[in-house]
Amino acid sequence: MSRDPRYDILFEPVEIGPLTAKNRFYQVPHCNGGGYRDPSAAAAMRGVKAEGGWAVIFTEQTEMHHSSEIAPYIELQLWDDDDVPILAKMADAIHEHDALAGTQLTYAGVNGPNLYSREIPLAPSAMPIRTYTSDPVSARAMTRRDIRDLRRWHRNACLRAKTAGFDLVCLYAAHGHGVFQHFLSTATNQRGDEYGGSLENRSRLLREIVEECKDAIGDSCAITLRLSLVETIGELGFSNSEVRDLIEMHAELPDLWDLAHGTWADCSGPSRFKDEAAQQDLVAGIKALTPRPVVGVGRFTSPDVMARQVKTGILDFIGCARPSIADPFIPRKIDEGRVEDIRECIGCNICISGDMTMSISRCTQNPAFMEEWRKGWHPEKMNPKGDSESVLVVGAGPAGLEAALALGKRGYQVVLAEAGTELGGRVARERRLPGLSAWGRVADYREYQLSQLANVDIYLDNKLGADDILDFGFQHVALATGSRWRADGVSRYHVVPMPNDGSLPLMTPDELMAGEYPAGRVLVFDDDHYYMGGVLAELLAARGCEVTLLTPAAHVSAWTSNTLEQASIHARLVELGVEVVLNRALARIEGGRAESVCVYSGRGRTHEADAIVMVASRVGNDALWQDLDARADEWEARGICSIRLIGDAESPAPIAWATYAGHRYARELDTPDIGDALPFRREVTQIKY
Ligand SMILES: Cc1cc2nc3c(=O)[nH]c(=O)nc-3n(C[C@H](O)[C@H](O)[C@H](O)COP(=O)(O)O)c2cc1C
Ligand code: SF4
Repeated sequence: MSRDPRYDILFEPVEIGPLTAKNRFYQVPHCNGGGYRDPSAAAAMRGVKAEGGWAVIFTEQTEMHHSSEIAPYIELQLWDDDDVPILAKMADAIHEHDALAGTQLTYAGVNGPNLYSREIPLAPSAMPIRTYTSDPVSARAMTRRDIRDLRRWHRNACLRAKTAGFDLVCLYAAHGHGVFQHFLSTATNQRGDEYGGSLENRSRLLREIVEECKDAIGDSCAITLRLSLVETIGELGFSNSEVRDLIEMHAELPDLWDLAHGTWADCSGPSRFKDEAAQQDLVAGIKALTPRPVVGVGRFTSPDVMARQVKTGILDFIGCARPSIADPFIPRKIDEGRVEDIRECIGCNICISGDMTMSISRCTQNPAFMEEWRKGWHPEKMNPKGDSESVLVVGAGPAGLEAALALGKRGYQVVLAEAGTELGGRVARERRLPGLSAWGRVADYREYQLSQLANVDIYLDNKLGADDILDFGFQHVALATGSRWRADGVSRYHVVPMPNDGSLPLMTPDELMAGEYPAGRVLVFDDDHYYMGGVLAELLAARGCEVTLLTPAAHVSAWTSNTLEQASIHARLVELGVEVVLNRALARIEGGRAESVCVYSGRGRTHEADAIVMVASRVGNDALWQDLDARADEWEARGICSIRLIGDAESPAPIAWATYAGHRYARELDTPDIGDALPFRREVTQIKY
């Protein structure tokens, strides 16, 4: 197939300073939870994106000097020449497929607590350090000598980046995370000298450093600037109109303007709160202020939306972080006329949670993400089929769908049997909840891909028992039978069932998702702490209930701070009039009343409610597995080599865990048993002492 001419514009070459990008696909900087601990894993991930056709590929933010670092986070470092080989790995992997390699230099300023280096943090003005954990540390105001040092450090970091092989260096002045933004914003720059006050003064450092970086490496490398479009922190913040003034004032200063939204949470807004191209109004018109190319972001997954951004003169480059994680092959798929094959990002921000927890990032849609080096997984290529022929997958939720798809691609004869009447399992139900419709892409993508495979048959409305499965005689059986919510309150606070005399109607998320709703005063008890409690409170408030959300945590939907949603969830609940009660657990239901206790003091309180919604924990639906396991001695005679429980049925977790489990099952079928060996490669053990 060939490219749809409507998208030709996306494949035009564009000049960036001394360089030419081969097309308009630009992977903006993004972290991956691997950082300096797993550089080969990150390099292989970037290399796969280069193979997928991106013209420009950046590393994550890279600390450029030890006097400003963001421990405990493990982002890349380019502190001195010893860091060059690690960074060179990234540049080399990107160059292997003819893409331009970029690195983003960060001097964290007021965001760098320096917990590791123990240096005194430096910022435009003296103030407490601003981090997610409000570290009890302050920055001191930079002197003129410090500013001279900072200029020299940037020049030297650029030279190191060039030695490492990078073509582009991006200076970070966005998301509140870089010292340039701290100088630009009157919220963080209260200086009275030539670096504070007027916009010209506040942008002086930026101008000096960009000019000096260009002087150092600009003959062969491009210097780009990543700028927040609006700081979104109130009146003192750097506003969108000031951003425009700045760009007009320094129109030709950087080789490219890379425009991002306000805070990181604004910029990487989840689909629950932000649509595709949500930043369009903030970017529109900026291109007219500068002859330099402009990059913008907006969770772009639709080639039509991308082409429109360019055709209507809003952007020169389509900047992508999450869409490039979910599908590193977007450019190639568009180029080859395979738009239906794009694995669209669902905007869940699980990838960000890997960075926030410094583990290794997962992607709900792309289970191979960050496993390219660790496990040798490629997002578009499966390992060849093994010796067996047939596999039965029971359950068409995220794990079952992914297992069937990946097995089908390997060449097995696959039957996917689903007890319900639609594909998707939990995703089919959850996509109907407020703000979660994009999550349905987990099912939609796989449904279409499966429809293209002649060796996979799907049977809906097909509830199987142990006898059926033993009679069929498939060589392998994967049970992806999902999970259900508990009604007895067992989760983190209650480790045994909560006292409940049954005097109040009590519902679980499963019942609400099946369309049974309580009315009147509803108490939602959330001891799950991810999205479900907040989403159901939102649903019920929108249906006219008087909702109280009660949680033992200090924050509503506390774990969503890892997906950058927590503040938006709380704000939405407040807007909807939901009463939020924090630090309290539902202790018992008795005599038609709910009683809670303060998790610190144990003090009790009674809540008048007409119904309780219990968002506690889930248990795997493993009854079928138990039946089959009890009859394991029959398997061999029936021609069955293995039966495995996978996904939520084995261990309930976010959707990304389920797609990963399905994919892993498919990858590992018929592969040699590795016994007690580690199932992935590690890099730290390869350091020679
Ligand atoms: C996992 C992850 C890590 C990110 N890390 C960075 C970073 O290191 N530097 C940066 O400027 N932006 C970072 N971002 C923000 C992205 O570059 C981008 O601006 C934002 O996600 C919006 O683009 P998207 O809708 O295409 O994801 C990160 C985003 C994600 C998803
Ligand atoms: S984890 Fe979710 S938000 Fe991140 S890239 Fe994958 S699908 Fe998109």
